[in-house]
Amino acid sequence: METITIERRGRVALLTINRPDKLNALNSAVHSEGVAALDELRADSEVRVLVLTGSGEKAFIAGADISEFEGNTPVAQRDLFHERSLFNSIDQFPKPVIAMIDGFCLGGGNELAMACDIRIASDRSRFSQPEINLGIIPGGGGTQRLTNLVGEGRAMEMILTGDMIDAATAERFGLVNHVYPFAELEAETMKLAEKIAEKAPIALQLCKEAVKFASRSNLDEGLRREVDLFALVFSTEDKKEGISAFLEKRKPDFKGK
Ligand code: COA
Repeated sequence: METITIERRGRVALLTINRPDKLNALNSAVHSEGVAALDELRADSEVRVLVLTGSGEKAFIAGADISEFEGNTPVAQRDLFHERSLFNSIDQFPKPVIAMIDGFCLGGGNELAMACDIRIASDRSRFSQPEINLGIIPGGGGTQRLTNLVGEGRAMEMILTGDMIDAATAERFGLVNHVYPFAELEAETMKLAEKIAEKAPIALQLCKEAVKFASRSNLDEGLRREVDLFALVFSTEDKKEGISAFLEKRKPDFKGK
């Protein structure tokens, strides 16, 4: 793959978008190679948590590749951003995904980060939805996920002005979970990823499904979905292991079964 690298670190996989000379802008190759990489990682039972990041010193991802906008037809653009998009593949990925953000996190980059489950940023990161400055609107989930994460007023201001916010503001808004000095970013992100990777994989998957459903349904439907998934998890070997380990006062050894 030309635009994506994958590194396995025990139970955690690190997926890096690798176009540093273009600030990791999301072109069609990143989308297609990223989707293929996610298919591979989805099938790999050794991988329990994914960390997604961008290469280079300057940017997590500086947005969709603007140079591709010029020649794309409306239908091709719709296809790229929806049916075959990295945004959707991340959203539907069954294992926890953490965005590790350093530098510019703009437009499609911010949308990709928001499709992840948890966002950790360096203190020098900056965030925006700058599409309005190009005469367009966000198309990778920005109007929906940003509103869910930070509320309508803050989302409106970011989307209508295109202005950047700094990492401290992003943390205060709830756009990112934690901010660390750059020197600590990777260690802190991996520490969190490894902590989650010790949990029962099927329970993690069902937690994701239930939590994501909260913003896509009403409370009654959400509560029904949650209790169905709660019942389903009772069929797993890991549920037996988790309960036995607690009663026997030992650490559980979850197998993902
Ligand atoms: N799409 C395509 N190429 C991009 C890009 C994008 N979203 N963002 C940056 N690049 C390219 C630049 O064109 C430049 O390429 P070049 O060296 O071949 O000219 C290279 O990445 C480095 O970017 P540059 O603009 O020189 O860096 P900078 O430090 O001066 O500015 C930004 C950084 C992020 C402020 C600026 O690149 C920018 O505004 N990018 C676009 C952000 C955007 O609008 N994203 C949303 C798209 S919907």
